[in-house]
Amino acid sequence: MTDGELAQARLHEIAEASLEGPGVTRLPWTREHRDANRLIGIWMKDAGLDVSLDAAGTLVGRSPNAGSKPLILLGSHQDSVRQGGRYDGIMGIALACLVARRFRDRWSDLPVAISVLAFADEEGVRFPTALIGPRALAGTLDPSVFELADADGIRMSDAMRDFGLESERASALAMRTPPVKAYLECHIEQGPILEDNALPVGVVTGICGITRIAVTFAGETGHAGTVPMSGRRDALVGAAQFVDEVNRTVSNLSDLRATVGQFDVRPNVVNAIPNEVRLTLEIRGTDDVNRASFKQEMHQVASRIANTADLNLIWTPTYDQPAIACDAALRRALAAGVRQTGHRVLELPSGATHDSSAMADLCPVGMLFVRCRNGVSHRPDEFASADDMAVAIDVCETAIRGIADQTE
Ligand code: GLV
Ligand code: MN
Ligand code: MN
Repeated sequence: MTDGELAQARLHEIAEASLEGPGVTRLPWTREHRDANRLIGIWMKDAGLDVSLDAAGTLVGRSPNAGSKPLILLGSHQDSVRQGGRYDGIMGIALACLVARRFRDRWSDLPVAISVLAFADEEGVRFPTALIGPRALAGTLDPSVFELADADGIRMSDAMRDFGLESERASALAMRTPPVKAYLECHIEQGPILEDNALPVGVVTGICGITRIAVTFAGETGHAGTVPMSGRRDALVGAAQFVDEVNRTVSNLSDLRATVGQFDVRPNVVNAIPNEVRLTLEIRGTDDVNRASFKQEMHQVASRIANTADLNLIWTPTYDQPAIACDAALRRALAAGVRQTGHRVLELPSGATHDSSAMADLCPVGMLFVRCRNGVSHRPDEFASADDMAVAIDVCETAIRGIADQTE
């Protein structure tokens, strides 16, 4: 069995650690997370790593040559979206374990130590926040997030306590010694570019920044049959114009994506004029300046629509995550690994966010994308082939050897 086939078999097995229903649903600090960690612990031990769980719920596999050697971190997230696939996140952990396994029994020859990190939560599906594990390591964790509740009213700190964790200790995890040389993450591309280019892997240049805004248009309700059309203050008409303008404007800007993902109409009945619409606008892009100016432009658009339609506008920015650049030396190390496998090097940005976004506050980060079938992700039919995963393992092994050589 090749390492790619072993990765495939492991990913099929761990997909059973899921709530029932189509695809994989595995949320942080749940029974499914515990079941997944049990298997990941077996993969880590098979790679010769010492396994422990940190206070944020990250399962850590440390090479036994740790100590004062510079550290290379490898990893990704164990959690999934609801009814997601078998690869997003967890593939990066499976591949990291198989990369570490290449060095098993020869740790003392290696001038660097390796830790594999299986982060608890990246998707932000259970709690309205994410990246607790990497933020804890980077020392950027805001402890107020532990008070956030999930849809069942369970506070994050309680969910973590039931998982056997003391959330108060998570803020003290910030890694200072030994020096962290790199965080490397393999992830499915979640888009079509590698497939379009007939390439198994690609080197990531950077990860988009994200801006989220809660927008409310408020007008006046009334009888749908008796209030004349002229003079209505229909909040849905204004909100619909806004969605259309967002979409038309961003479609002419190749480096940005903008999405109205949530839309809540009140009173939401068939025979009353809508008096309130709450929606979310999410803007992503790898250039923080462009993202900020698009946000400002859309604020002006919303204000103009509200003035013209006699609506009130509430514009509340709720989230801002800066874009990050992948480290140039790590990009070169990964590119050298790709060339060694005989493939062309393609560099591409990431429109999805990743644990690497938060790890960039701790150390240089490098990411390798693996081709996914039809570019689909966050769906049960998400798929990466054993052959492509095998290429990714080879690339990471070469990259680590390159980083280690520079350390000697
Ligand atoms: C999650 O991965 C996201 O990009 O929102
Ligand atoms: Mn992911
Ligand atoms: Mn995802």
